[in-house]
Amino acid sequence: MEEFNDNIQGRVPTHVSIIMDGNGRWAQLRGKERVYGHSHGVESVRACVEAAAETGVRYLSLFAFSSENWGRPEAEVNTLMKLMFKAIADEIEALKKQRVRFRVLGDMSRLEPALVEAIRTAEAFTEPEDGKEPILDLIIFLSYSGKWDILQAAKRLAEAHASDPAGTENATADEFASYLVTSGIPDPDLIIRTSGESRISNYLLWQAAYSEFLFVDTLWPDFRKEEFRSALKEYAKRDRRYGKVK
Ligand code: IPE
Ligand code: IPE
Ligand code: MG
Repeated sequence: MEEFNDNIQGRVPTHVSIIMDGNGRWAQLRGKERVYGHSHGVESVRACVEAAAETGVRYLSLFAFSSENWGRPEAEVNTLMKLMFKAIADEIEALKKQRVRFRVLGDMSRLEPALVEAIRTAEAFTEPEDGKEPILDLIIFLSYSGKWDILQAAKRLAEAHASDPAGTENATADEFASYLVTSGIPDPDLIIRTSGESRISNYLLWQAAYSEFLFVDTLWPDFRKEEFRSALKEYAKRDRRYGKVK
């Protein structure tokens, strides 16, 4: 591990975010149903959580289900929700042991109440009891889209200043961001999308303002520790200028 960290000269991203894409194609290549790919994708999640914790990444966020994904066939949506239940039940003990704090962000009003309850229980369970910082925050974006997030933030900001128009007038970008569901989480340094697609698909639109992007051809069920580490090596070569000159 030390050797790996030496290679990337201490330039480990604080927050890595992944658009986990290509499960369906991975299954179809094997002559299987799309859901076969989704269940193998859970193993990639486990591998990336471990790789993130080992390399010193502090936040790992994963796009698991978009607002648009509600438009998929009912059977696939149901399977994905069942898989979410199962993954929580199967992984939560191991996450707690590794000192990983689990969080789910998105439009909870569209989820089954029993799933929301399982999520809230899992979140509370992985909250460190000793008040110390976790090793890693694992954030799952579920029933999420960037436009939905920006709109709900705008509504809440307007509501907060309902009786104070000057407050809206003077609102800053930082204040606005405090109403996004990602409030308190640093913006992603690196956003990886698997499966060869080069688009953002309504993901973190506000938060990705200065993220580095990496598009890889690997399908999500094949994206494991080695691929995660390669992505960090690529990130270490990037020169982030934030509009300034050097
Ligand atoms: C990503 O894989 C998982 C979700 C979006 C839920 P896909 O299901 O999009 O797989 P492809 O892109 O069709 O191969
Ligand atoms: C993006 O993948 C959403 C997630 C990975 C959760 P999609 O497969 O839904 O994206 P499009 O439709 O190809 O843009
Ligand atoms: Mg896809």
